[in-house]
Amino acid sequence: MARESESGLPIEPVYGPRALDGWDPAQKLGEPGSYPYTRGVYPTMYTGRPWTMRQYAGFGTAGESNARYRQLIAHGTTGLSVAFDLPTQMGHDSDAPLAHGEVGKVGVAIDSVEDMRVLFDGIPLEQVSTSMTINAPAAVLLLLYQLVAEEQGARPERLTGTIQNDVLKEYIARGTYIFPPKPSLRLTADIFRYCGERLPRWNTISISGYHMAEAGASPAQEIAFTLADGIEYVRTAVAAGMDVDDFAPRLSFFFVARTTLLEEVAKFRAARRIWARVMREEFGARDPRSQMLRFHTQTAGVQLTAQQPEVNLVRVSVQALAAVLGGTQSLHTNSFDEAIALPTHTSARLALRTQQVLAHETDVTATVDPFAGSYAVERMTDDVEEAAVGLMDRVAELGGAVEAIERGFQKGEIERNAYRIAQETDSGERVVVGVNRFRLDEEEPYEPLRVDPAIEARQVERLAALRARRDQPAVDSALTALKKAAEGDDNVLYPMREALRARATVGEVCGALREVWGAYVPSDAF
Ligand code: 3HC
Repeated sequence: MARESESGLPIEPVYGPRALDGWDPAQKLGEPGSYPYTRGVYPTMYTGRPWTMRQYAGFGTAGESNARYRQLIAHGTTGLSVAFDLPTQMGHDSDAPLAHGEVGKVGVAIDSVEDMRVLFDGIPLEQVSTSMTINAPAAVLLLLYQLVAEEQGARPERLTGTIQNDVLKEYIARGTYIFPPKPSLRLTADIFRYCGERLPRWNTISISGYHMAEAGASPAQEIAFTLADGIEYVRTAVAAGMDVDDFAPRLSFFFVARTTLLEEVAKFRAARRIWARVMREEFGARDPRSQMLRFHTQTAGVQLTAQQPEVNLVRVSVQALAAVLGGTQSLHTNSFDEAIALPTHTSARLALRTQQVLAHETDVTATVDPFAGSYAVERMTDDVEEAAVGLMDRVAELGGAVEAIERGFQKGEIERNAYRIAQETDSGERVVVGVNRFRLDEEEPYEPLRVDPAIEARQVERLAALRARRDQPAVDSALTALKKAAEGDDNVLYPMREALRARATVGEVCGALREVWGAYVPSDAF
């Protein structure tokens, strides 16, 4: 009897040639590094260069996070990935009433260019690629990064990295939105244009399915809703007068890797094929780089357990293997204690070591897309693709991703799937080792990392000193210029950069935009 996959698709006990009846490898696969990129975006994939080992990290103050980045670099990480605290993600300063209790908790607190300077102290920004998980205030943090890099003597045209900058999925699954969808999309188009002009190697967005998956999306839903968001961004930029091949090469994606390895590999391959087709056929992209879906992967945090946390090391290894067999460009492996608290120094190192074992001790990097031609995986790739395209069609019928978000479509579908998973876990039909099977009578004690609560007071003091020191009239007039651009059509990033250079804070810059654009209030669809 067929088993059901995570997307609710059948997985047959045995696949043979009949599973691929009428299947044309030239059309479905092509060569690695060429259309439709099923086999990967680069001709040589990991035989030419391994994926980037990019561990998401950051907590407390800029100084503490800087120390963690230096440790990660010393241990062999090949890219940086900055976690910001919630106030920064929401565009509030550390001394804002709403920030109270949250400063430095889930990431680093950044209020101004002075914090950013400390964050990257001693790290040569022209030589490292840095991802910043920042969405509504993405432009602000990107400009702060550029300012600090230039202070170091780096050339902006050489800077490489990624801002997440994916506001649509914030409305669907993650929640750190500030402005309503329309001005948010306008800001995204401004960022695309600014990067094209000033930071040509920067990946301007990381269109993310990861958080939808954490909220309960199935693999097919994850790629369908993410690619539908991608289509919305492309439409917005084209409508703002940009040529698709001027910005599409710098779009990037972000997915989860679950423990269901076969379906995950199929998912990654299907996503590449769908995106290539959409870009070529719907948007007329000619530059092959515009058709290439490049993505970062994070192993599934939601599948980690607080019970017997060391078992998570095993889960993470399988998930990471799925990402690598699926052709990821960049990978974060979760630490085994992440279901409990922020990773300790040792657990963060072990997570990185997991990637290093895969890259250097196994043979999975020796040949490109080793599953190509597998009856099972090719059939599953086709099945996931068909299911995802069906969901994308439904989003299109509703008028596109924004319309569908406003009607609560994606969120409703994801919640239904999350409910199914919860029911299966509760009934024991879905086995979670250490949770509903193979339990210990008594859990062993574990000492998690705790963030020092005094951080908030220290950060508030730093801000007060900054406000006392800076040239206030210069800040005020820079913020006025920013508001003027936001009211009209000028690219807001140029006046924003001047305000930040004058040491306006993240909260002040976002506050100025809030005054003009308003704040998003979710619909009552659920
Ligand atoms: N042959 C030839 N060239 C190759 C190659 C090969 N086999 N492999 C790589 N290269 C080249 C590439 O062309 C590229 O050169 P370029 O800069 O001139 O274009 C260079 O080597 C770097 O390779 P990639 O672009 O493939 O890898 P990067 O690591 O630089 O970029 C990415 C990967 C996915 C495109 C990028 O967007 C990225 O790094 N994303 C990371 C996103 C991230 O870390 N997010 C964290 C989110 S955590 C979160 O959301 C928090 C919570 O809520 C969960």
